[in-house]
Amino acid sequence: MNDLISMRDLSKDEVLYLIDLSEKIEKGECKPDMSRKLAALMFYEPSTRTHFSFATAMKKLGGQTITMRGTASTSVQKGESFADTLLTIAQYADLIVIRSAIEGAARYAAETVPIPVINAGDGANQHPTQALLDIFSIKKTQKKLEDLTIGVVGDLKFGRTVHSLVQALSDFNPRFYFASPSHLKMPPYILDDLTQKKIAFEEIREVEKYINTFDLMYVTRIQKERFADPEDYEKIKGSYIISESMLKEVKKNFKILHPLPRVDEISTDVDATPYAYYFQQARNGVYMRQAIIAALLGGDK
Ligand code: CP
Repeated sequence: MNDLISMRDLSKDEVLYLIDLSEKIEKGECKPDMSRKLAALMFYEPSTRTHFSFATAMKKLGGQTITMRGTASTSVQKGESFADTLLTIAQYADLIVIRSAIEGAARYAAETVPIPVINAGDGANQHPTQALLDIFSIKKTQKKLEDLTIGVVGDLKFGRTVHSLVQALSDFNPRFYFASPSHLKMPPYILDDLTQKKIAFEEIREVEKYINTFDLMYVTRIQKERFADPEDYEKIKGSYIISESMLKEVKKNFKILHPLPRVDEISTDVDATPYAYYFQQARNGVYMRQAIIAALLGGDK
């Protein structure tokens, strides 16, 4: 691994290796030393979890971070190009973690700078570190990755986390049920991929009808910021709300995951049930991001 840009770039063995390394880091069996390393966190879009968990991960590894959050206080305001900004930051840091609204921005960054680049989300395209922490969370809760029945609910068109996760899980023989408003279905290129790999999937309307067959349900918010017309968002918002009353007969091993932030798609009465796993999932992000940083900077051996 030189960079981490898309789940398509990772083999099944590499995914399993990162899960194993995350487990060892969590248990204290592996303590990578990044004390001489510095990561630049370049966030052109807002973030709570990804930004703070990368900063936490780097600190726990003994390393340091420098941070850009938005361009308001940078020389982008004076007309500096994206490439020149990247090439400058690469003079200071050993690793760039980048989030951008522009699809392909992280790939461009990786091709521009000589240091490793991690995609922390590029538009509606990919969010591979989220997919890796999600799959780590699935392994922890289900004790396996193979042959799971998974409901994927919400904004499947603009939700970059679901694009990365579905690609990551497709190596583990899942059965997917996709539930979304009709304008926000999973993109055809992902469905084509699943068909080629002979992965079973079904597009459904009513979550209630299927929820008792799920091992886990991955819920996402409708991505308001990706709508060109705010009125289109107003028409669709609130289409899917998961509430405690829907969970009466779910499987014992059933868990609800969500990349967060949550808006209204999971009612807060679900939080106290044994099925809610989204805050532990966010915690798992620190271990996985420690593993990813160590693997990219050669501290995992
Ligand atoms: N899951 C996720 O990417 O959250 P943030 O946008 O808060 O980083």
